[in-house]
Amino acid sequence: MMFHNLVTVLMLGSAAFAAQLTQVPNYGGNARAKPQMWVYKPDNLKSDALVVAIHSCQSSAQKYFQNAKIPWKQGSDRKGYITVWPSSTTECWDVSSKASLSHDGGGDSNAIANMIKYAIAQYKIDPGRVFVTGGSSGAMMSNVLAATYPDLITAVSLYSGVPAGCFVSSSGQVAAWNNTCSGGQSTATAQKWGDVVRSMYPGYNGTRPRMQFWHGSTDSTLSPNNYRETVKQWTNVFGVSETPTSSKPDTPERNYRTDDFGPNVQGIWAQGVGHSVPSHLDQSEAWFGL
Ligand SMILES: *[C@@H]1O[C@H](CO)[C@@H](O)[C@H](O)[C@H]1NC(C)=O
Ligand SMILES: *[C@@H]1O[C@H](CO)[C@@H](O)[C@H](O)[C@H]1NC(C)=O
Repeated sequence: MMFHNLVTVLMLGSAAFAAQLTQVPNYGGNARAKPQMWVYKPDNLKSDALVVAIHSCQSSAQKYFQNAKIPWKQGSDRKGYITVWPSSTTECWDVSSKASLSHDGGGDSNAIANMIKYAIAQYKIDPGRVFVTGGSSGAMMSNVLAATYPDLITAVSLYSGVPAGCFVSSSGQVAAWNNTCSGGQSTATAQKWGDVVRSMYPGYNGTRPRMQFWHGSTDSTLSPNNYRETVKQWTNVFGVSETPTSSKPDTPERNYRTDDFGPNVQGIWAQGVGHSVPSHLDQSEAWFGL
């Protein structure tokens, strides 16, 4: 009987201390956009890196965290790094308004940057190890964050997005859908796509996040053309050729092709894969150096 009670107490104890996704009610900053900040600190915290995992449309921090196909909780538990899960107040992330497409513009990107700053200060994150990932709308936001906050982000690994600025709303609407871009008709020169990034943080001359992006060849939600346009955008920003320095078929798995454009830009083209390309935890972590 006593033994049984002891076991019960121990079990309750471990349940009470098991890490869970927790909301940070006030992460500070003065952005007008107010997405929620959620954080997951693994029990075996043993890394000073941060991964920000950004959900897709019609999702939330909790849904994305609980989604069995989204592997970042497992990555966090396995390697002991903290993950931050922003949660949008709109159906999709705002990647269309000037506020979100500008450094310190007050939009969603600004709010997520504030979450990153809060995490660096509160959880003693190494500012040189801040990583961003996301799928679909979260991938679009990852590109926007790379463009608006290159000073905060070390590397990005995104799944099935569009170039930064591709979803711009000509009327300035917040979180607008853009059929021209989703349909693959937003094409421009590498120079123009690079200018779009540079204009989001004018005068910035520091280092830029290393960019890894995945796209499926049969994506019918965000046209596969967006892969090519994203290649143009980031190769121009890094001042490297649009022609891959290496292109490896059947990597990291059969029917995927890994295109490297020097050390800072990598595209992974998934032949026969639709929307979205499944997260590849090992390859994303490797890109982050985790
Ligand atoms: C959609 O985005 C493109 C750039 O990708 C832009 O030229 C166009 O004006 C946008 N459409 C609307 C309706 O805002
Ligand atoms: C860019 O570089 C110049 C000259 O080194 C410097 O004065 C300026 O503050 C830099 N701009 C930013 C945004 O860092």
